[in-house]
Amino acid sequence: MDAKNPNRKFRSTPQYGLYQRENFWKSNDGEVPPFNTEPGKLEELARQKLTQNGWYYASSNAGQSYTHTANRQAFYRHRIIPRMLVDTNKRETSTEIFGHKVPAPIGFAPIGINKIYHPDGELPVAKVAGELGLPYCLSTAGSQPIEDVGAANGDAGVRFFQLYMPHDDELTRSLLTRAVSSGFTACILTLDTWQLGWRHDDVSTSNYAFYHGTGADLGLSDPVFQRRLKEEGIDPKTQPNEAGAKWIDNVWHGRAHTWEKVEWVMALWKELSGGKPFCLKGIQCVPDAQKAVDIGVDGIVVSNHAGRQVDGAIASLDALEQIVDAVGGKTYIMFDSGIRGASDVFKALALGAKFVFVGRLWIWGLSIMGEHGVRHVMKSLLADFDILLNVAGYQNIGQIDRKAIESGPKVYPLLPEKAKL
Ligand code: GLV
Repeated sequence: MDAKNPNRKFRSTPQYGLYQRENFWKSNDGEVPPFNTEPGKLEELARQKLTQNGWYYASSNAGQSYTHTANRQAFYRHRIIPRMLVDTNKRETSTEIFGHKVPAPIGFAPIGINKIYHPDGELPVAKVAGELGLPYCLSTAGSQPIEDVGAANGDAGVRFFQLYMPHDDELTRSLLTRAVSSGFTACILTLDTWQLGWRHDDVSTSNYAFYHGTGADLGLSDPVFQRRLKEEGIDPKTQPNEAGAKWIDNVWHGRAHTWEKVEWVMALWKELSGGKPFCLKGIQCVPDAQKAVDIGVDGIVVSNHAGRQVDGAIASLDALEQIVDAVGGKTYIMFDSGIRGASDVFKALALGAKFVFVGRLWIWGLSIMGEHGVRHVMKSLLADFDILLNVAGYQNIGQIDRKAIESGPKVYPLLPEKAKL
């Protein structure tokens, strides 16, 4: 790829594809590319770097991993139709999300307890997201204070706060207030995780970091939660396990919320944020998507929590197709669960998602090489996406629609265990 390509000046999108050139050139300078980003190899490298607990938590899925498998298989059902001799010289990967112009339709999915994967937890991830200009979502189960994550993401960072809603309304208000003051510009309420799904490896190894003194910093730094600890006589310094347990039992409490409460928290967020976007994450069927539209949310994330919650469920990508058919155009539809490369991003967009979130890819990068690892993984994905548009003949995100793919029937062979797909 010619680094002096004269078309560069016509593109507002960063020259992501040049990251390929940079890596091809490296050995001339006595360097090697950081690591292989082929998803299977990336996952294996992360497994080697992590402790057993870290690895189990990163890779765990609900039950027999059938949902995870379906998520991945669904991508094979759709094939991209390449176009030739299209003038892609001025191609654009940029898009808009909630009024923010971003350079690609790709964001960082909310993932909790990043300290399991790296001692600095969420900070390097938020920093890289800010640097790349890609939206970053902080999980309520995050292992750093909201304020620190906001600062790491930077003044120009686009950041959203993912809420696991406690049953303690004062605590919810406090978390959202902190998020607003720390520059988080949308609230994404997760609906599929009142408690974690049954994950064999984690259960069998007592692998719940919060109960063992790790990962509760977001809660421990909250004034309302600090008061709750005092009320119960728990000292987080001398009783980190009890403090961590109290925190996470507020977050993954196992007590379902209903639509009425969603309307309450949406109104609360709007009040605190001055009307910023409020979205629901975890929608997998048309009636729920319709209900979300009816109550007036600003967007939905079609997600099944990457197969970590309901085992044996439909693929999130299949849910996306139906939901777009029913309510596309009535709300802003985002997607996650199973994205492993640029072609997956393309297919989700072709099926009608306006934006996608990736999770495990950057978790693996963080596990392998901290900040550099996250940067390498995301820059590779962006380069892959930019190059895909170039070689497949698409000039911009708007051209990626159903005509850009050919879709086969929903026939998925049953695989006996978590498939290396
Ligand atoms: C939390 O979101 C998890 O899936 O463990």
